[in-house]
Amino acid sequence: MIEMSDSVFPVPSDLASRAHVDNAKYLEMYKRSVDDPDGFWGEHGKRVDWMKPYTKVKNTSYDHHNVSIKWFEDGTLNVSANCVDRHLETRGDQPAIIWEGDDPSEHKVITYKQLHHEVNVFANVLHAQGVKKGDRVTIYLPMIPEAAYAMLACARIGAIHSIVFGGFSPDSLAQRIDSCQSNCVITADEGLRGGRKVPLKANVDKATEKAPVNSVIVVKRTGGEITMKDGRDVWYHEEADRVSDHCQPVEMNAEDPLFILYTSGSTGQPKGVVHTTGGYLVYASMTHQYVFDYQEGDIYWCTADVGWVTGHSYIVYGPLANGATTLMFEGVPTYPGPDRFWEVCDKHNVTIFYTAPTAIRALMGAGDDHVKKHSLKSLRLLGSVGEPINPEAWTWYYNVVGQGRCPIVDTWWQTETGGILITPLPGATDLKPGSATRPFFGVQPAIVDAEGKVLDGATEGNLVMLDSWPGQMRTVYGDHERFVQTYFSTYKGMYFTGDGCRRDTDGYYWITGRVDDVINVSGHRMGTAEVESALVSHPKVSEAAVVGYPHDIKGQGIYAYVTLMDGEEPTDALKKELVTHVRAEIGPIASPDLIQFAPGLPKTRSGKIMRRILRKIAEDSFDSLGDTSTLADPAVVDDLIDNRQNRA
Ligand code: PRX
Repeated sequence: MIEMSDSVFPVPSDLASRAHVDNAKYLEMYKRSVDDPDGFWGEHGKRVDWMKPYTKVKNTSYDHHNVSIKWFEDGTLNVSANCVDRHLETRGDQPAIIWEGDDPSEHKVITYKQLHHEVNVFANVLHAQGVKKGDRVTIYLPMIPEAAYAMLACARIGAIHSIVFGGFSPDSLAQRIDSCQSNCVITADEGLRGGRKVPLKANVDKATEKAPVNSVIVVKRTGGEITMKDGRDVWYHEEADRVSDHCQPVEMNAEDPLFILYTSGSTGQPKGVVHTTGGYLVYASMTHQYVFDYQEGDIYWCTADVGWVTGHSYIVYGPLANGATTLMFEGVPTYPGPDRFWEVCDKHNVTIFYTAPTAIRALMGAGDDHVKKHSLKSLRLLGSVGEPINPEAWTWYYNVVGQGRCPIVDTWWQTETGGILITPLPGATDLKPGSATRPFFGVQPAIVDAEGKVLDGATEGNLVMLDSWPGQMRTVYGDHERFVQTYFSTYKGMYFTGDGCRRDTDGYYWITGRVDDVINVSGHRMGTAEVESALVSHPKVSEAAVVGYPHDIKGQGIYAYVTLMDGEEPTDALKKELVTHVRAEIGPIASPDLIQFAPGLPKTRSGKIMRRILRKIAEDSFDSLGDTSTLADPAVVDDLIDNRQNRA
């Protein structure tokens, strides 16, 4: 549970005058953005280059009978032209991407001119493989520059990319290839993370046994041994030699899909979140500029992976649309040592640094000395994303990393929102550790009770959005009804975020975490249902129930209650086997932290598992279990308590 700290860190006065907006400007712009969205976004939409200018701005409906979201709907543009070509004249020789390898001896600087060349070549390689406008391309790459080239190349020819995080298993990859009927996969021989090799191509080979594709483009990263399938697999570098470096960007409608990104929900398989071209780019670039107060000459580093939405919006599309220099890091925070982040900040003179609370907590645990041996003088702004940041970690980040000099933007958003919705603006917003503070322009948050009644003033409840913003997801790929059901039917006429939230007397928002069956492990979203279905697919498991519990580093850990088949022995060896099984089914990010063998699970007489009770026991706070009288067999609870695995 997030604490509400009382400390306030006022905006430094010199920053208020230097930043894009101070508080008065924020209030004025915010008011206009909600009073006159057409006027506001009509003006700010011009920040990107349109091939055919839009004449319509907002056309959105949250009516659950007819959910429809369109922005700039008659305009046309190309995202890759906006992220690359339009910068050539003014900043062709400026670094677009600084790539830092897993091994500290490796780095590369890619200028906008070079990026232009690479994206054109990659686009032509895709063409040569038969990829056309509207086709879905699955990208399963490590954090190498080719990931950005591939994304922008898809955008250039109008193909829709679906990036699958390199930590997902072959099965998860297969499911995502199949779900969007993608015929082309872009991968690498192997990835490299923390000195360890990740067998990406071998995973693709396994995945495509279940979900066959026509073409696999393989980027050479490590030179490790792999097998190439004749007639299907090609080496990227060989194909690149055969094509020209000119590819005309395709004219796309503002509402043509740009990408699909799978994310976990409370039920069923991951959903293919669809983002479109115009509104997404306007929103990603505008938030990148204002939230990070991006200024000419900044070196901006977001430590996310492009496999997550943060990497899409704030490593690639937002920064590059703004002509920024974006740093892309292949490795992990703790390799070769727990000072790697700080070493990289000094090496490349990073000015803006954006990471996740889980990394901050882990590095805080490693001790201040690792930070203090680096200068970090270049830093001027810090950011946080992915989960609630506890005030202790916030304060450490502020004092030790930021040396008391750098504001922290705690940015709240989701895969579905495309960009940041609730956040401080560095020159405008006084900070409170642990609060994401106030809405960005055009964003209208509200807090509702269980019945959907909007609550006023200082209060607590569920977080909804009352109206649309340009970066909002448009649909679930291939299943608009699921989109409507998931987000617009809990509270009619509102977008439901799935998060709980408090608002204080200053109108600041404090996200308290998910209120559905989604858990947030190290800033990664995981559906409990997915982990349960992986567990029950093991032959020795008859039933499983998964909940989150507070974890010092990860924010939440995965706690699995497992009922075994009759006659199976509940041993430690079996626990290990189950962990290995889940890793193989979903990926290492889904590994249960604690497994409790449970002869029975608490169920109502109608057979519904009472998760509330399981959550309490996992949190080690079982003296407040509430009413258990509706349980079919109240005695199972005693056994669960006696054998609980988390004795916090
Ligand atoms: O619960 C919220 C949490 O992460 C969820 C969204 O996860 P995902 O779609 O994977 O996107 C993560 C990166 C944008 C939200 O529903 N979350 C994200 N940022 C914050 C946060 N919780 C608290 N504070 C944040 N700053």
